[in-house]
Amino acid sequence: MTTPPQVLLALTRQAETVWQSSQPVWPGLVVEVLPRIDSTNTELMRRAREGQRDPVLLVAAEQTAGRGRQGKPWVGEPGASLAFSLGLPLAPADWSGLSLVVGVAVAEALHPEVRLKWPNDLWWQGRKLAGILVETALVAQNRYAVVGVGINLQTPSWPAEQGVSGAGLAPVLPVGLHALPDQGTDLDAGQTLAAVVPGLLRALRRFETEGFAVFVDRFSQRDALSGQVVRLSDGREGVAGGVEPDGSLILHTPEGRRTVLSGEVSVRPC
Ligand code: BTN
Repeated sequence: MTTPPQVLLALTRQAETVWQSSQPVWPGLVVEVLPRIDSTNTELMRRAREGQRDPVLLVAAEQTAGRGRQGKPWVGEPGASLAFSLGLPLAPADWSGLSLVVGVAVAEALHPEVRLKWPNDLWWQGRKLAGILVETALVAQNRYAVVGVGINLQTPSWPAEQGVSGAGLAPVLPVGLHALPDQGTDLDAGQTLAAVVPGLLRALRRFETEGFAVFVDRFSQRDALSGQVVRLSDGREGVAGGVEPDGSLILHTPEGRRTVLSGEVSVRPC
């Protein structure tokens, strides 16, 4: 598939704006736009393994091997989706809740009706609008975070069976940003990038010094699962009761109150 030149143009047109808005928050951040790459996360992890630990925003008009959580592929058509990764030398006292912070910042930048499906999906009306993949690498004794974000701009035309599913859980259908009320169809990949990145950088800075605890209220305001009966991929069921200050999910089960760490499971409303 060839990448339509207008997709690349839309992204490069916004690169300067994004760079300018990023400098007060993250001085020295480099903005790089590529026509095609296997995966922006894979590329930044490769660079980190080679010793690269400078702050960078890597945006691709097309990913040929986009990756999601738990080894799943992430498929996004050029122009119909936005894919980018931030590579940042972060040094928080506690890393827990990082992907939830990313979700909060991206959701707030996109639309008031966007909800957060713990741990790191963005939903609108029960459909998946965006996903987050956070990875870290050790570079010269320091941790380097690679924060990948994929946003559907147009609703993908996948059939229901190809929806996103967790082990033994019902698939979730995707939806595009353009389907949201008052969103119009004129927000291209570059404009969406420019809308999302400044708030995301500010949130990551705050996370680094204050941790996830100061984001709990903002997460709760958009929590898609709170109060719902949910099923976990490990078979447990219960009522979701929000998140702890460390980002773990609170689950009220017949056996009592439990907390679930984000790496452990997938979760769906019943
Ligand atoms: C998920 O929902 O499972 C996470 C999806 C993350 C997709 C983004 S797109 C940019 C970055 N590069 C990747 O290969 N993945 C992330």
